[in-house]
Amino acid sequence: MATPPNSFCSLFFIYSILLSSFFLAYEAQAYPPVVNGLSYSFYSQTCPKLESIVRNHLEKEFTQASWQAAALLVVFFHDCFVQGCDGSLLLDGNPGERDHPLNRGISLKVLRTIDDLRNVVHNECGRIVSCADITVLAARDAVYLSGGPNFAVPLGRRDSLNFSFEEVNNLPLPYNITSVTLQTFASKNLDVTNVVALVGAHTLGRAHCHTFYNRLSPLDPNMDKTLAKILNTTCPSTYSRNTANLDIRTPKVFDNKYYINLMNRQGLFTSDQDLFTDKRTKGLVEAFAHDQTLFFEKFVDGFIRMSQLDVLTGNQGEIRAKCNVINNKRPIVTSINVDEMVQLIY
Ligand code: HEM
Repeated sequence: MATPPNSFCSLFFIYSILLSSFFLAYEAQAYPPVVNGLSYSFYSQTCPKLESIVRNHLEKEFTQASWQAAALLVVFFHDCFVQGCDGSLLLDGNPGERDHPLNRGISLKVLRTIDDLRNVVHNECGRIVSCADITVLAARDAVYLSGGPNFAVPLGRRDSLNFSFEEVNNLPLPYNITSVTLQTFASKNLDVTNVVALVGAHTLGRAHCHTFYNRLSPLDPNMDKTLAKILNTTCPSTYSRNTANLDIRTPKVFDNKYYINLMNRQGLFTSDQDLFTDKRTKGLVEAFAHDQTLFFEKFVDGFIRMSQLDVLTGNQGEIRAKCNVINNKRPIVTSINVDEMVQLIY
């Protein structure tokens, strides 16, 4: 017997609901929630060429100096972790965030690259894109241009009017064991999977001797002997200004070899290597070492979450005309009242 048209319509209706709820559930699982005020299409009308400008400019920069990819990722991390992704790290100060010892490795050249990008973008679209957004886009492209995943990020961040030297103390330390590392990231609502995936950024770049010398003298039994030998030659003392690759296998490629290193006791920092000791993180290290696609998926998830930490949106903050200074920086003398002026003069 033929199905009456009414029943057919209801079946079709139920099927469509089931199908769309499946896709909604899939979307919800695949992408982290977008914070109020940010969106994936924020500049699609006002600056449609933004993303191609950033990518093309960095592609050229990296042919001259590929090390900038790693440096851009650190700027992203150290900006977002301190007071949120608001470009506060980029501001000059006395002392500013960059003057903190934990930011000593931040390269001035890469800050210039971010401001160059700002300049090209503002010439094309006017002063509507924040330095905070450019920092996130540059880090996203650093990952892709080094062989990592290609992904979209929500945009619409505004730049801060201030910075916090003290909050830099909240950055994680390389000497920490996993319990401390997990607490540090949990304070930013980032979970165990986010931590293990995000630290996979150590697939790129280099570290100074003082950041891992604690494992050389006395020798950490959890360090591969051949690696220890190489590092001892690179670092005659903790004060040596030399550097070593964070990923001994493929230091210039964004891949999952970092996790393979950890499984072979070839991680550089205590905080890296301990991820393969702690039972809460060991399984994830093994999973990412075996499955690069899974690592990429979880890295993207962690990146998007971190890129939305304590963002300024709407009318908050401003869009800086230069990344290293706020727009209406008053000369210090204008904040001094007349009586103080008199005291200053006499
Ligand atoms: C437990 C968490 C983390 C600790 C303790 C840590 C610590 C460090 C330290 C001490 C260095 C060497 C700095 C120097 O000697 O100049 C470094 C380098 C680096 N870190 Fe991390 N980091 C952590 C997480 C992250 C995250 C989440 C990212 C990015 C998403 C990241 C990206 C990088 C990169 C790319 C480098 C190489 C920098 C370069 O070559 O210029 N790190 N990290």
